[in-house]
Amino acid sequence: MALLQIENFSFSYPRSAQPALQEINISVEKGEFIGITGPTGAGKSTLTCCLNGIIPHFQGGSYQGRISLGGASIFDRSPAQITRLVGSVFQDPEAQIISPEVEQELAFGPENLGYPPAEIEQRIGKALELAGIPGLRNRPTVNLSGGEKQRVAIAAALAMLPEILVLDEPTSELDPVGTDEIFQVLNLLNKKHGLTIIMVEQKTEQLAAYADRILVFNEGRIALEGKPRQVFARRRELEEIGVRIPQVARLAGLLGGYERCTLPLTVEEGHLYLERILRR
Ligand SMILES: Nc1ncnc2c1ncn2[C@@H]1O[C@H](COP(=O)(O)OP(=O)(O)OP(=O)(O)O)[C@@H](O)[C@H]1O
Ligand SMILES: [Mg+2]
Repeated sequence: MALLQIENFSFSYPRSAQPALQEINISVEKGEFIGITGPTGAGKSTLTCCLNGIIPHFQGGSYQGRISLGGASIFDRSPAQITRLVGSVFQDPEAQIISPEVEQELAFGPENLGYPPAEIEQRIGKALELAGIPGLRNRPTVNLSGGEKQRVAIAAALAMLPEILVLDEPTSELDPVGTDEIFQVLNLLNKKHGLTIIMVEQKTEQLAAYADRILVFNEGRIALEGKPRQVFARRRELEEIGVRIPQVARLAGLLGGYERCTLPLTVEEGHLYLERILRR
C-alpha cells in the first residue's frame, strides 16, 4: 500500500467561488521524492497545508475526497499526531524558527510530545547530523544565514522522526549556494536514508536532477505528471502553463530536438548531449 494516498480530493476556502484544489489524485510510495511545481495560485501551498494539518485544523473550508497517510485518514488525526508524522518546512526562514537557540528549536517538538530527556538529546544529535549542521548546535538562531535557518528548520522536522517531509518552496529566499545546500541535504536524506519527500519548488533544474516524479499543478488540478524527463519534454504545454523548463533541456530543444537521444536535464547530461551532436 502507498504511504500517502490522495483520492479525488477537492478543497475550497471559505467564501471562495473557485475550488483551490480539484479532483487531485496522488499516490506516493515510501522513499519517493516528489517534486511539485506550477504557476502562482495553482494550489501547491494549499496541498501542503492539507498534508501538514493546517487544513482542516487551523484553516476553515470544505473538502471532498480522501487523504490517507499510513492507511488512516489524515483529517481524522489530531494536530499532534500530524506533526509527528509529517515534517514541514515553509518558504520563509524567518517565520518558522521560534526559539532563540538552535538546540532549543530542535528540542521544541519532541519536548511537546513528552519524550524523556535522553531520547530528546539523541534525536537532536541525529537530526543535526542528518541536516549537516552539527556545528550550529549552540548558535543563536537570530544571526544564522537564510540557508542555515532552512537547514535548522529541516533538522527540527527530522527530530520528530517524520514519515514524510513536506517542503513549500524552501529555497525561494536563498542564494544559489544556499539552494544547492538544501538540495544536497534533501538528496542525502532521500537516497541514503529513504526519507519520503514532497517538495514544492520553482527551480526546475534542481527538481529535475533530484525528484523521482514531477507533478505540475495548474488552476487547482494536476496538469502534467511523470518522470522529470517525460514532463520536461512537454515544452509547449509547460510554456502555456507558465512553467520554466531546465535551461539545458531548452537548449537541446533549440539545437534541433532530442528525439533520437534522451532529453538532457542537467549540465552533465547537456555536456554528453552536445558531444553527441557535435560528433554527428
Ligand atoms: N486563506 C485563503 N483564503 C482564500 N483563498 C485562498 C487562501 N489561500 C489561498 N487561496 C487561494 O487558493 C488558490 C491557490 O493558492 P495557493 O496558495 O495554494 O497557490 P500556490 O500554487 O501555492 O501559489 P504560489 O506559487 O503563489 O505560492 C489561489 O487562488 C489563492 O488565491
Ligand atoms: Mg505557494
